[in-house]
Amino acid sequence: MSGIYIHIPFCRKACIYCDFHFSTQLEYKEKMVQAICKEIELQKDYAGGEAVESIYFGGGTPSVLSNEELNAILNSVTKDHIVSEKVEITLEANPDDLTEERIKEFKQAGINRLSIGIQSFDEEELKWMNRSHTVDQSVACVKAAQNKGFDNITIDLIYGSKFQDINKWKNNLQKAFDLNVQHISAYNLTIESKTVLGNWFGKGIEPAVNDEFSQQCFEWLMEETERKGFIQYEISNFGTNHHFAVHNSNYWKGNKYIGIGPSAHSYDGKNRQWNIANNPQYIKSIESGIVPFEKEELSINDQYNEYLLTRLRTMWGVDLNYIEKQFGEKYLNSFLENTKEYISNGEMVKNNSVYTLTKKGKLLADRISSELFEEN
Ligand SMILES: C[S@@+](CC[C@H](N)C(=O)[O-])C[C@H]1O[C@@H](n2cnc3c(N)ncnc32)[C@H](O)[C@@H]1O
Repeated sequence: MSGIYIHIPFCRKACIYCDFHFSTQLEYKEKMVQAICKEIELQKDYAGGEAVESIYFGGGTPSVLSNEELNAILNSVTKDHIVSEKVEITLEANPDDLTEERIKEFKQAGINRLSIGIQSFDEEELKWMNRSHTVDQSVACVKAAQNKGFDNITIDLIYGSKFQDINKWKNNLQKAFDLNVQHISAYNLTIESKTVLGNWFGKGIEPAVNDEFSQQCFEWLMEETERKGFIQYEISNFGTNHHFAVHNSNYWKGNKYIGIGPSAHSYDGKNRQWNIANNPQYIKSIESGIVPFEKEELSINDQYNEYLLTRLRTMWGVDLNYIEKQFGEKYLNSFLENTKEYISNGEMVKNNSVYTLTKKGKLLADRISSELFEEN
């Protein structure tokens, strides 16, 4: 069981908050697609020949790919990898790219899960974010995709910006429910340093994100999604009827994945590696037959810490049996000792051998997992 992540490092416009690797110079697109196809071949043995269960086109904005480019990449995957029959194929798309014609092409290409970057249903906020679409386009593209038979749609939303108050956030969420999508990802706005927003913040033009307000939004998000029948299977991810992302769940369960394209990360169970985050340098290196990456071997402590960090964010939780088998008694005892406090103050619950965060604990997920980390 493995997954393939394909990073498409192009966007038509730069969103003010985004620090993912991308360029707005689309003239490299053709060469990039050729390089991506070549890297798919070069990396064919990375996951030890395990069947590919998920293919994820992330970005950037993968919906900038032409139909031919998308099909060329998918053909490379099926040529060089064993792809499971029931593979999940996700494409991140921006609403302004999702015309009826393009939706049809995506469906024909085999995309069976659309991840639509809606972010907000407030026109003013979208403009501030420098998004390239309107609220009407968001609503129309979801309906068009549903009409063309997409039955696994997820949308991204962001909460906590200065444009929102709790009623606006409630309204955003209600609009998402009204669209009858199967899955919602909702992220707290973070101000990253190398972004326009980070720059404004540094100059004092932009206020910090108000933690108390973000917490209020997150509490409403957890309660309201639950009322509407969504399951919070990861801190920021909510799915109905088991429409959980196969691809992202693989990350959280510690399965292997191959990351293709500039800045993409790969994991083989023990090592993590990440490709260079520079489009021309990536293309040049791949053309000469070399994947340009840096690599880190994870120590036992790193593996344990990652296990806690990822699993505590999910409904699958941390399993004592896994800790004992994988890491040994020392780690087990330390976990048992250090979690007593969270159990007694209602931030964690124990169900047989599995520990998960309660709603109260989820508000402090990052702090709790870092307090449980073993020092290197
Ligand atoms: C790789 S991006 C998706 C890109 C997609 N082309 C788009 O623009 O919608 C994945 C998601 O992460 C979220 N995100 C990115 N930067 C963020 C930030 N600084 N704070 C909060 N959420 C962020 C957004 O919801 C975004 O849709």
